Amino acid sequence: SSCPALPDGFDFTDPDVYQERVPLPEFALLRETAPVWWNRQPRGVAGFDDEGYWVVTRHADVKEVSTRPELFSSNLNTAVIRFAGHMSRDQIDVQKLIMLNMDPPEHTRVRQIVQRGFTPRAIRALENALRERAERIVREATDRGSGDFVTDIAVELPLQAIAELIGVPQQDRTRIFDWSNKMVAYDDPEYAITEEIGTQSAAELVSYAMTMAEARKECPARYAGDIVSRLVAAEGEGNLNPDEFGFFVILLAVAGNETTRNAISHGMHAFLTHPDQWELFRAARPDTAAEEIVRWATPVVSFQRTATQDTELAGQKISAGERVGLFYSSANNDPEVFEDPHLFDIARDPNPHLGFGGGGPHFCLGKSLAVLEINLIFNAMADLAPGISLAGPGPRRLRSAWLNGIKELRVDYG
Ligand code: HEM
Repeated sequence: SSCPALPDGFDFTDPDVYQERVPLPEFALLRETAPVWWNRQPRGVAGFDDEGYWVVTRHADVKEVSTRPELFSSNLNTAVIRFAGHMSRDQIDVQKLIMLNMDPPEHTRVRQIVQRGFTPRAIRALENALRERAERIVREATDRGSGDFVTDIAVELPLQAIAELIGVPQQDRTRIFDWSNKMVAYDDPEYAITEEIGTQSAAELVSYAMTMAEARKECPARYAGDIVSRLVAAEGEGNLNPDEFGFFVILLAVAGNETTRNAISHGMHAFLTHPDQWELFRAARPDTAAEEIVRWATPVVSFQRTATQDTELAGQKISAGERVGLFYSSANNDPEVFEDPHLFDIARDPNPHLGFGGGGPHFCLGKSLAVLEINLIFNAMADLAPGISLAGPGPRRLRSAWLNGIKELRVDYG
């Protein structure tokens, strides 16, 4: 247009754009002037014919797209922007097997099955084991006096929670954790994880999970009642075949791991830089805190959809086949919905943030598990390390355009 909202060439796909500056001031400008904005990707995107995508910045529009899967498909493109830029055709085909990239009715079938593992009852059943785990993790860290909160604490519980959920035996956990960590191939060169290592780790995790599934099919009586059995060996009510289960475990390892880790790290950093909120948390333990931590952190910056037909969003024409990026980190700071969105306020209520997605069929399956983990960690911190303080220069951020991540946060445990 004659009055561009952002400098020519500004690219939300560029990880450098996010360093030190989340939430981006550019989002505020777009919400005001061009809420559905065309982001050119001049280099093109491997596996796709298009040269850019629509950046959706307002809370209401992110919800609208999320809840209309027939118009905005998840097939292929829900894969984060970064993945889409790096994937070969073969990898894109594999991605189709993951429910995050499915549309109804395939998605509905898989979701109905895996939901059995995430009922309130199933999550409550994990609570005592995870509480003990959280307390042990925090105690071991605080005994050392000082350290890196991310590797000492934030990394540990999400991995243990997934292992606990699907019943991975203790002796296999180190291997599972190693594959999981390597699969989230970073844009961050510091981790030196190549695509090859990522793909290899994913393959090993799939084959481990398939073995778990096959064991249940062969000897259902031996594993009766465990969660994997309920997903793969259930009679009558539908079940996953072993490779579907394998890909589900991959999704859990990606979706449940770094997201929760970064929510916990950002939450700790927010408390450290808002001592009044830490004091409030320690005194009152409000159950609104976890949701505000997720709004504040917004670990997933964005996911994508593809328009299935010509349509319009907030007055902007969108053509069939064009990609649409849902910017949760913008929606979560939309002043139309949040009073003083720039304030970290653990008593915020209501808090209709979109950190777990904009509603609709793909809404985060692990939300109650994530909220439980966040509560357990900060309760343990409040009990065992109430005097925690920042040590060193503050957080070192992950270099990534789709994860709002912290890779190091030096602290004195007090
Ligand atoms: C989907 C965020 C924790 C499992 C999603 C989506 C988001 C999200 C944004 C996509 C929603 C959409 O497209 O509408 C988060 C955040 C977490 C978190 C911020 C932590 C604070 C977890 C955990 C698990 C999990 C702990 C499981 C162990 C999943 C799965 C999906 C999903 C399986 C795909 C659901 C589907 O396609 O139907 N999550 N998540 N997430 N999440 Fe989470």
